[in-house]
Parts: sequence; C-alpha cells; structure tokens
Amino acid sequence: MCGIVGYIGSRSVVEILTSGLRKLEYRGYDSSGIAVHSGKEIKVYKAEGKLQNLDDLMQKHVSETASSTLGIGHIRWATHGAPTTVNAHPHTCNCGKLVIVHNGIIENYKELRADLEKRGCKFRSQTDTETVAHLVAYHYGKLQNLTEAVRQATKEIDGAYALCIMHQDNPNVLVATKRNAPLLVGIGEGEYFVASDVPAIIEYTKKAMYLNDNEIVTLTRENMDLIDIDNNKISSKIEMLPWEPVALSKMGFKHFMLKEIHEQPDVIRNVLSGKLFNTDEPINLSEVNLTKADLKKLNRIQIIACGTSLHAAMVGKYLIEEFCGIPVDVEASSEYIYRKTVTDEKTLVIGVSQSGETADTITAIKQSKERGSHILIITNRPDSTMARFADSLIPVNAGIEVSVAATKSYVAQLISFYLLAIYMGEVKESISQVFSKNLKKELVILPQKIEQILAHKEIIQRCAKHYSRYKDFIYIARGINLATSLEGALKLKEISYINATGYAAGELKHGPIAMLDETMPVLAILMKGSVYEKILSNAEESKARNANLIALTDSDDPKLDDLFDFIIRIPEVSEVLSPIISVIPLQLMAYYIAEFLGKDVDQPRNLAKSVTVE
Ligand code: M6R
Repeated sequence: MCGIVGYIGSRSVVEILTSGLRKLEYRGYDSSGIAVHSGKEIKVYKAEGKLQNLDDLMQKHVSETASSTLGIGHIRWATHGAPTTVNAHPHTCNCGKLVIVHNGIIENYKELRADLEKRGCKFRSQTDTETVAHLVAYHYGKLQNLTEAVRQATKEIDGAYALCIMHQDNPNVLVATKRNAPLLVGIGEGEYFVASDVPAIIEYTKKAMYLNDNEIVTLTRENMDLIDIDNNKISSKIEMLPWEPVALSKMGFKHFMLKEIHEQPDVIRNVLSGKLFNTDEPINLSEVNLTKADLKKLNRIQIIACGTSLHAAMVGKYLIEEFCGIPVDVEASSEYIYRKTVTDEKTLVIGVSQSGETADTITAIKQSKERGSHILIITNRPDSTMARFADSLIPVNAGIEVSVAATKSYVAQLISFYLLAIYMGEVKESISQVFSKNLKKELVILPQKIEQILAHKEIIQRCAKHYSRYKDFIYIARGINLATSLEGALKLKEISYINATGYAAGELKHGPIAMLDETMPVLAILMKGSVYEKILSNAEESKARNANLIALTDSDDPKLDDLFDFIIRIPEVSEVLSPIISVIPLQLMAYYIAEFLGKDVDQPRNLAKSVTVE
C-alpha cells in the first residue's frame, strides 16, 4: 500500500510533500518520511507512527530545509518489515546519494538482495524497497545516468511498484516509474508533482498525466521526458483532472466516521438524482453500455469485491436474482484470482470498490477482461485504476470518504445496486411496472427514514455504552440482511478491535450456538418480512442459552420487550429495501463502542483505507 509524493520546481518542497502525504494518509499511516535536496546534498527525515510525528520533526529542521525545492515523500503501511523508523521510506543506497520511495511489493527482493549483498551492498532495513535503492545505485555507478539506471533496474524487478527517485549529483532531476501501482504527474509552470493519487496535488494543478505500466518519466524544472522500459520515446497524454480541491473538514463532528454516517441521507439523494427522475419512468442508467439485447442474452453475472464492498455485492446478488432471474455469484476478489473460474464473454463481471484501487479486485477484473467478459465497475472513484478497465462505469457519488471504516460508500453502493437491478428488471421486463413504481417511491423517501434514525441516535449511544464492556458479539440475520449482519460485525471489529461475527441465523444451531452464554451478546437483525418469525425463533434459541439479546427491528410488537434485553427500533421499511436502513444503527453502534473505548476511530490500527497490495 503506501502513498508517495515528489516535487521539483521553485517552491519550498517540505510543505508540498507533507501536505501531499496528509492527503494520502488513507493509503497507510504507520510511519512516514521525506528526503529533500538542498542543491548540494540530500537529507532524509523519517518518523515512526502517525504523520504528525513527521510534521513535528520537520518543524525542528525548518532552517535547513526551507530553501529546498526538490524532494520525495512517503507514507507507509508496512508489508515487509515492522513499522519502525529504519524501515520507513525514503530508502538510500550505501553512499546515501540515491534516495527512493516506493509503493507496492517487490516479489523477487530476496534473490535481488542476495545478489546485491554479494556485490558488497550493506542492507539496513527489512524492507523489499531497500533492494531497489541498491539496485538503481548499482546501475547508476556504471551508467552515470539516473533515468537509464532506473530503466535497467526495473527490468530486473518482479512485482508491483510506483517509484520516485532522486540522486544527489542530479539536483535538477526527479525520476518516476510504475508497474501495477497508480502514479500520476501533475504539471505546473516550471514545476512538476508526482503522486499516488490526485488529492495530493490537486491544490497545485489540475493538469496531469497518468503513467502507464513500465513507463519512466524524467522531470526537470523545465521539461518532462517519457520513455518506456525498452527506451522508446512516448508522447505524453496530458489531461485536465475533473477535480476541485476539497477542504476536508469534520464539520463539527468528533470524527470523520460520524460525519460520514450523517451524510448518508444526502448521499442517497445524490445517487438517485439523474437516475430516478420520476417514479412512473424507467430508471435512467445510461452508464450501462449494454444494449437491451445484450442484457437479455446474459446468462450469468459474477460480482467481485472485498470487505465492505463485498457485503454490498451480496445484497446486489439478492436483488439481481430476485428482479431479473439471472444467476449471480459473489466472490472475494482475493479468492477469485487464484482458481479456475468459469468466466467468459457471456458473463457480466461487476467489480465493486470504494477506492477503485484495491489490488485484488483490479487483478480479478483484469483476468475477467482477458476472458472476454463485459466489465461493469461500481466505484466511488471514477478516475481510479479500476475504472480504466470498465466497459460500463457506475460512479457512486458518495464524495470523499476519509474514515477507514466505510459507511457512506457502502450505502451508495447499495443504492447503485438497487438502481441497476431495477433497471435490468425493467429492460428484461422481469418485474412488473407496479412493483418497480412502488420500489422507486420507497427509495425516494428512504433518506427521511435515515434522518429519523440519526435524530434518535442517543438510544444507540446508550446501547453502545452498555455493551462496550463485552469482548465478543454475534450478529444474526437471514435473507437479504445477512450481508447487513456481516457488515455490522466488520464495522465493530475494525474500529473497536472487539471480536464480532455475522451468521446466517439458521446456521447458529449448526455450531456457533455452542459459544453462547451470558458473556456473548447476540444482536438479531429482525426486520419485518419473510424471515421475521424464523429469526425470532433463532433469538429464542439464543435466549435459552443465556445470551444477552439485542434486537434491531422495524416491528413495534410489544412482545419483543419480554424476549430482548435491548431493542433498537427503526422506521418500518419493505423487506427488500431494509438493508439500506438497517445498517445505519450498526454503523453507529460500532462508532460509539469504539469511541467509549477510546479507540482511534478514523485510523484504526493495522488498517489502511485503500488496500493496494495483494
Ligand atoms: O476500496 P474498496 O471498496 O475496494 O475496499 C475494500 C475493503 O478494503 C474495504 O471495504 C474495507 O473492508 C473497509 N475498511 C471496510 O470498512
């Protein structure tokens, strides 16, 4: 994972690098570092822990760095080697003249390291990246040309990388290259920026060039040269980024997560706008580049995603099968890519990803594209790597999500699946007009129902306070809300580090029920509809084993008060739409438990917002 930035120009570089890294914190936050060129020498500064530690360190070195206008920076999510200062980037060669920052994984680093050690290189870190520093320095020693040294080195490297490199003897040169990791160059007047992602540079320039795999760019203050790994000159493909600088603010909320939970009613309105104009009219999904005939011919759909996006995919499967009668498989991208899958040109493959940069999903999408499938991408980042593989692209328009725990992007993905499933059902004429009209009517008023939940969040806060002392939780649900139970449990795990597992309620008696006693709360997602009575029975079974029972329900049946120890009541909604609102109290529950426990809600330990390594 990790984020990288680089700058060459005439402005003071430290501010540009540190503010760029701040925007890339979603890619990791366990250590960070920068290297600056003074014109005469290169100095490296690194700090373990949050980016604030690097900011504090740089404050102490203002006088020695203020005039530097060339530098590189890195924010790390550790893969090889613990998150220590010595393993933090930038990494240097033995003479300290060549510095490098890297995002990705060098798969053959052990072999390369053994060779380099034989040639006399002394390694200081446990990282794969340090290998590249020594390797480029080795070639530089022979060639005395930084671009050429980088080109030769990348020919020997296997794996994924975005690299930004500078050398003390080249005070007017910055070199960058990539393979299977994102990297773009921002173009200013007499200045260039390098970054893993747009937010790091957008406040300085909108003019940019995305690097393709195996391209190497050489930047001076005056010029940009682009070649490929075989030394062919390439003309640059400059584009204007469709982005505005966004001042990321918590808007008075204590954490980004709480703010993002509260944004969900407006996110839903936003996703619906332009697609659902009038409940009497068909859904307008012009983003789907499949003709009616193509859609009618489809006999199989595969949805590929990870984490929270995988849970949205599960709801998507339910909807598409229910509304369109097309068989749908849902699979974690990391599983899909290492087996023989039955995917061909008759399969529609849907990739779901908030970031559009999740490495496993990108690989899965590439594989299915090679097999001839139509690729439909549902993402919050229409400018992402994944979006570039799309034959059809549905942007979910949730806005920038800062908190590592996905909330509003999940709800936006769900709404996108509802729109897609209704759209396909209308095209295939597999749902009636009355059914789709009623569904649309209800979709439109969902934001108000969520606002009602948010307006009474103190009930969930009370529940969270009471249950924050428990160490294990079970969430049960059936049918369309099974995904909700998994998502609720994932939210709790990732931000409070409490063990929580979502189960299909009917499966409880096939094993998990053995764990139940008074130390294990069971939260039942008990929405009215086809499986209500069944879940109620499963809750009874749990009570009989002394479990402490919580209900999340849209039922006002007073009998529930006798069975459950705590009830979270939410507005009534038809069963098919219930996942959109039943997840909201679970997001709040996870948030408040983590907050009571004093956890780092927006940046939980060991995680990163975007998982860009396999
Ligand atoms: O960007 P993506 O949607 O592809 O990310 C997938 C998962 O890494 C992500 O959903 C992760 O599980 C979140 N931390 C969940 O809150």
